Amino acid sequence: MTAAAVPVQVPVELGDRRYTIWIAPGLLHEPAAWQGLPRAATALIVSNDVVAPLYADALAAALASHYGQVGRVQLPDGEAHKDWPALNRIFDTLLADAADRDTVLFALGGGVVGDMTGFAAACYMRGVPLVQVPTTLLAQVDSSVGGKTAINHPLGKNMIGAFHQPARVVCDLATLATLPAREISAGLAEVIKYGPIADAAFFDWLETHLDAVRALEPAALTHAVQRSCEVKARIVAADEREAGQRAWLNFGHTFGHAIEAGMGWGAWLHGEAVGAGMCMAAELSRRLGLIDAATVARIIALVARAGLPTRGPALRELTIAAHLHHMRVDKKAQAGALRFVVLTELGAARLQAVDEALVRETLAACCD
Ligand code: NAD
Ligand code: GLY
Repeated sequence: MTAAAVPVQVPVELGDRRYTIWIAPGLLHEPAAWQGLPRAATALIVSNDVVAPLYADALAAALASHYGQVGRVQLPDGEAHKDWPALNRIFDTLLADAADRDTVLFALGGGVVGDMTGFAAACYMRGVPLVQVPTTLLAQVDSSVGGKTAINHPLGKNMIGAFHQPARVVCDLATLATLPAREISAGLAEVIKYGPIADAAFFDWLETHLDAVRALEPAALTHAVQRSCEVKARIVAADEREAGQRAWLNFGHTFGHAIEAGMGWGAWLHGEAVGAGMCMAAELSRRLGLIDAATVARIIALVARAGLPTRGPALRELTIAAHLHHMRVDKKAQAGALRFVVLTELGAARLQAVDEALVRETLAACCD
């Protein structure tokens, strides 16, 4: 697809750091999407071994008339490379090219490239401008928006990072055509999440339209990405640094991060771990007396229809003790106490401390 539909534009209202999320198929080839970005002599496209061969030429062409020099750096693919050595390759390129403090970094890829490029932009010369060009569903509906950047540490996911908001997010929906089906499913986990935590009507809509979104039907896909970005933008604008409601975006993530870390980075995709994690967090909410079994069943059914796991890994592969160990490294843990995003109803969430015994019971019930 080369001709862009009329782009949807979702604002992220952060005062003088306000920016816009552009959403449409074909935006890599739409000149308007690349006008009015921070001006500089140099731009650097950061991508990876999978995405660069597909889309870096198109992005470089879009940027050619705006920047005197458009450099490129290609990182190794995958969550296992969301680490210091890969991050350093960005700094090596910037320094070797004598890039100055106006240099604009363009993150072309999924959440891994986006989080690492964002962290590099936050650090290089104490901060340079960043544009997110997400090419996975997960990155378009979540990770490219809101300014969280990070790399992993062997002892914990996303533990080394910074807040650094982009100057713009450009979601070219046509790039999803090359995304493997397993990755579409992973992205749907973050789409589904917005319903239980903040928007029951969107959850209802997804129950009707999930198959169309999964099949990348343009109208359904556009609505799903737009509504996800609108909910995230509202939450980020209200609580940029996660003093309160931004934590809701981590619904299912405490369980999920333990699965990702415990099984080894990349064994379960982030979205797969979040899918199972949301089912576990819903069951925990039920065991706390907050929601009923029918609501849990609706969440499990939608996660299953997205092609995602609804249960944790077998306990012989990841013991309850190992789950708990990884959960204690979670950023929401406070003074060693486990805290979870739980549902108070479909469409409303809160963060609360939970007794370890109840977490153990939930893990036993939700893992094979
Ligand atoms: P990813 O970046 O690893 O991308 C998934 C796979 O798809 C990779 O192999 C990638 O190379 C490939 N790919 C990307 N775009 C493609 C395309 N258009 N066609 C074909 N292949 C393509 O994974 P992800 O799911 O996008 O992101 C997960 C990461 O995002 C995790 O590290 C997670 O911690 C992070 N995350 C961050 C935030 C945040 O707020 N910053 C939010 C959610 C998730
Ligand atoms: N994905 C969690 C956040 O942006 O806060």
